Amino acid sequence: MSPIDFASVAQEKPARGRLAGKVALVTGVARPRGIGNAVAQLYAREGATVCLTDIAPEVEDCAKRIMDGGGKAYAYRADLTKLDQVAAMAAAIVKEHGRIDILCNAAGKSVPPRPPFIEMTEEYWDLVLDRNLRTMFNCCKAVVPHMQRRTRYRIISLLALVYLAAAGTAVFGVVVNLWFYFT
Ligand SMILES: NC(=O)c1ccc[n+]([C@@H]2O[C@H](COP(=O)([O-])OP(=O)(O)OC[C@H]3O[C@@H](n4cnc5c(N)ncnc54)[C@H](O)[C@@H]3O)[C@@H](O)[C@H]2O)c1
Repeated sequence: MSPIDFASVAQEKPARGRLAGKVALVTGVARPRGIGNAVAQLYAREGATVCLTDIAPEVEDCAKRIMDGGGKAYAYRADLTKLDQVAAMAAAIVKEHGRIDILCNAAGKSVPPRPPFIEMTEEYWDLVLDRNLRTMFNCCKAVVPHMQRRTRYRIISLLALVYLAAAGTAVFGVVVNLWFYFT
């Protein structure tokens, strides 16, 4: 089965200006065919000002692509496992754009090669949680205080539960609970 080209899917959607006037923060946008990149393009096509973040320098490419297409996009490079970096970014966005209405947590993914659970080390498990859950926790922690001053806001979190589920149903349950707790 060939991988989904999320960016092409985003382009197929008709734009209706449903996010005009909104400021959205989208994480994990660096991979051109990744989900975060597609979400960012879609939000921009719907009229949102999109603030983009990723640990990879290609976050700038995503912003440029949107700007070249007539959208409003701003890149903020950060390691989302570091709360101080995320907090500084959220404060900068609010200072520069006045608000954050939408947070889409798309940063994350598994840490390949994924070993069978029986061979999984504590270090590997920490990496998976750091990349998938800590990034989401930090973004919610830094952004929600700014959102609470508004009457309407949205948080969308994507999480590869399948990777985490491999570790066993008990952990899977904890992860799902954490996920729903935040979003
Ligand atoms: N691809 C799928 O089919 C699929 C299915 C279900 C869920 N998901 C989940 O959706 C999310 C996005 O998936 P994807 O396939 O677009 O992943 P991706 O690997 O293409 O994108 C993830 C992005 O997160 C960034 N990132 C990783 N660690 C970071 C950090 N510490 N700080 C800042 N950025 C960081 C990476 O640089 C990358 O650009 C992931 O959480 C994934 O687990 C993906």
